Amino acid sequence: MGGIVVFGAGGRAGRAVTGEARGRGYEVTAVVRDPGRHPDLGANGVAVVRGDVTDPGSVGAVVGGHVAAVHAVSPFSGPEQGFDSLDPEFFVKAADALLGGLAASGVRRLVAVGLFANLLGADGRPVMDDPAVFPPEIRPFALAHTAGLRRLREAADGPVDWLMLTPGGGLEQAAARTGRYRLGGERVPDGAAVLSYADLAVAVLDEIETPTRHRTRVSVCGPSGE
Ligand SMILES: NC(=O)c1ccc[n+]([C@@H]2O[C@H](COP(=O)([O-])OP(=O)(O)OC[C@H]3O[C@@H](n4cnc5c(N)ncnc54)[C@H](OP(=O)(O)O)[C@@H]3O)[C@@H](O)[C@H]2O)c1
Repeated sequence: MGGIVVFGAGGRAGRAVTGEARGRGYEVTAVVRDPGRHPDLGANGVAVVRGDVTDPGSVGAVVGGHVAAVHAVSPFSGPEQGFDSLDPEFFVKAADALLGGLAASGVRRLVAVGLFANLLGADGRPVMDDPAVFPPEIRPFALAHTAGLRRLREAADGPVDWLMLTPGGGLEQAAARTGRYRLGGERVPDGAAVLSYADLAVAVLDEIETPTRHRTRVSVCGPSGE
């Protein structure tokens, strides 16, 4: 069993994925910008390394020897942060660095975490285009995320078998792991239930172990009626 390299391993999704992967027996390389800020991450045999997902050299230096990579990076962790420092090209740079670095190192599977904003609503429009559903002040982040998805789609014929899992009904850090989730398509799923970060991680690891979706973006949510 090869290892999994997790970008954004110090964040909410990254920590959940790291824990799920270790729980399944995978070696994990946790990529963070400053290992000193995450002293607990190295517990349980996790290799913590410094890296920047937008830097091709940095990505290329850490991905070799893994069977899969996970992109759980966000430059924006909450509305209080504001957008003054947001690079609209952040997710494009990340996609380019990951696709290039993984291809050069022979890593064939990439699972990325997406953003609800660019799923399609009932009227066929992206959620972020409906101010009644999506806060306009977060739109710059949504546009940056969407540009990254577009970049992945442009690599549909490339060697990296990527998948973006987009939470369709919200993510909850405190919610428990149930081991259950529901994959959909491009639209906000009907009756989408909130998903725990732990169950998002289950979906990510399932799609690494037994890939069912390829070079596409799908929604992921908790099972209906829960
Ligand atoms: N409902 C939804 O659709 C929904 C909800 C939540 C999250 N998400 C998405 O899920 C993904 C993960 O979000 P999250 O909640 O886990 O975010 P988070 O807790 O804020 O963690 C993001 C992590 O990204 C890291 N990071 C930032 N810039 C980086 C860079 N240049 N290189 C490497 N790492 C970098 C940060 O690292 P440091 O530790 O170094 O600061 C941080 O630990 C994001 O794409 C986010 O947009 C979607």
